[in-house]
Amino acid sequence: MGLLTGKTALVTGAARGIGKAIALKFAAEGANVAFTDLVIDENGQATEAEIAAFGVKAKGYASNAADFAQTEEVVKQVKEDFGSIDILVNNAGITKDGLMLRMTEAQWDAVIAVNLKSAFNFIHACTPIMMRQKGGSIINMASVVGVHGNAGQCNYSASKAGMIALAKSIAQEMGAKGIRANAIAPGFIETAMTAALSDDVRAEWCKKIPLRRGGTPEDVANVALFLASDLSSYVSGQVIQIDGGMNM
Ligand code: NAI
Repeated sequence: MGLLTGKTALVTGAARGIGKAIALKFAAEGANVAFTDLVIDENGQATEAEIAAFGVKAKGYASNAADFAQTEEVVKQVKEDFGSIDILVNNAGITKDGLMLRMTEAQWDAVIAVNLKSAFNFIHACTPIMMRQKGGSIINMASVVGVHGNAGQCNYSASKAGMIALAKSIAQEMGAKGIRANAIAPGFIETAMTAALSDDVRAEWCKKIPLRRGGTPEDVANVALFLASDLSSYVSGQVIQIDGGMNM
């Protein structure tokens, strides 16, 4: 028996990166896993196959998480295909960095839509299902910059602070229905999102991290597993920083 045997998880933006690591971790613990991404190309198909290799049901759905109508449609489809949705991970996210005075309206709008509105869309569509099932676990992917802010990332930081407040509000609104909501705040994690950073920037970051390394997607997935499973049955409305001790 795995920690998630018999549960269905829906992870957004999981064709690669942290979302993929979470999907695989959940599958390894027995969950059936539905995931979304903008497109399900050979990358997404490979992810689907890797999840299925754990002997669970797996399916990737092409959908833009920022789009309300597409989200309603995809959640309806997942419910039809899988029968239930017990765990929702709002992971899809992008960066469009720039200093405030140089930031365009388009940069602001895109990041808020993909990083924050997407979570509203999925929570709105999934919680009626979770309420009927009398329980569920929602995990919002925030970031340490959503707690502490970051120069050059006002759009991204604001979206991630919003993810934290959204999780806390849902924890309060829906706790009586057995629904828990928490946020994860990763620090510097080695993925495509951070691969673009120069060696100098990377070295600067590492100096500030007591554990002296960047995190791995699996470091994040382990905490997501804790929050998704009954190991955290009395944990709700919390933010867990996964940052090697960078922020205390
Ligand atoms: P990534 O760029 O490797 O993966 C993000 C995934 O989301 C991609 O597969 C992408 O296609 C998908 N996606 C983008 N826009 C989408 C949309 N509109 N609809 C559906 N899917 C969409 O990024 P990574 O590093 O795996 O990040 C995952 C989450 O973790 C993001 O929310 C990110 O902000 C957050 N995070 C990452 C950190 C890091 O250091 N890598 C640190 C803190 C938070």
